[in-house]
Formats: sequence, structure tokens, C-alpha cells
Amino acid sequence: MKILIINGPNLNLLGKRESDIYGNETLTDLESWLAATPEASSHDIEWFQSNHEGEIIDIIHDAMKNTDGIIINPGAFTHYSYAIRDAIASVNIPTVEVHLSDIENREAFRKVSVIKDVCIDQIKGLGKTGYLKGLAVLTKHIPD
Ligand code: DQA
Repeated sequence: MKILIINGPNLNLLGKRESDIYGNETLTDLESWLAATPEASSHDIEWFQSNHEGEIIDIIHDAMKNTDGIIINPGAFTHYSYAIRDAIASVNIPTVEVHLSDIENREAFRKVSVIKDVCIDQIKGLGKTGYLKGLAVLTKHIPD
């Protein structure tokens, strides 16, 4: 399967950013870790990170050409980007929402996800393992 993993704003600063919440590993560490798992080896995985809403929307649209599933950590866009929500709803590609932290148990504004309803699942609070779980959810959902 061709899988697109999208990370939104500020996730390029993983490893430096609020390490008490997000840990010490960088986004590159996370990518290497996932690539080394047996589950990932049978998939063609593309990683994309952007701090810009429009760029995230554009890559979701581009995914219509060749992508079987999307894993997205929209960062703070999770809580208010109707535009990213609409992009996911428009392309009709199975999408899993992933968060490193447990957004249910943080500030009140983080409890709301405007993305959740257009995704097949929401995974939160598992750290990097959430991306692996996202892959498992997509594998199960998408027929061979
Ligand atoms: C996050 C949670 C969001 O609330 C936050 O804005 C992020 C990261 C997470 O992975 O836990 O940037 O999506």
C-alpha cells in the first residue's frame, strides 16, 4: 500500500519542543523507527511535514493520484481547521488521525477535533507507537 504520513505545524520541532509532553526524539527519529518496523516494510511510505495549512491541503489533494491511505497528525490545526477537514472529506482516502499526546487530557481547546469525524479512527496518547497503530488500522481497513 502507498501510505502518506502528514505531520502539521510545529512537529518539525519534535525533540526540542516541550519534551515533557512530546519526548526527546526528533521527527527524523520517528520516521527511522517506523521504517524499521516489520509492519512498515511491506508498504511504500511517504512522509510530509508542513507548518502551512494550504500546503497540507495541497498534498491531501495530490494524494488522490496514487495513495491508498493517509495518517495525519494535524498538530494545532486539529482543533480548528475546517479546510483540512474538508480536504480529507473531499478526497475519499481512508485517513487516520494521530496525536502523540493525549489530547483528551490536556487543555480544554485540545479536546475538540474538527478532523475526527472524517477519519476512520483517532489515535492519541501513544507517542510514536500511534503512527504504527495508524498503519495497522489502515491495513485492516483497506482491502488487498
Ligand atoms: C498534537 C496535539 C496538538 O494539540 C498540538 O497542537 C500539537 C501536537 C500531538 O501530537 O499530540 O502540535 O497533535
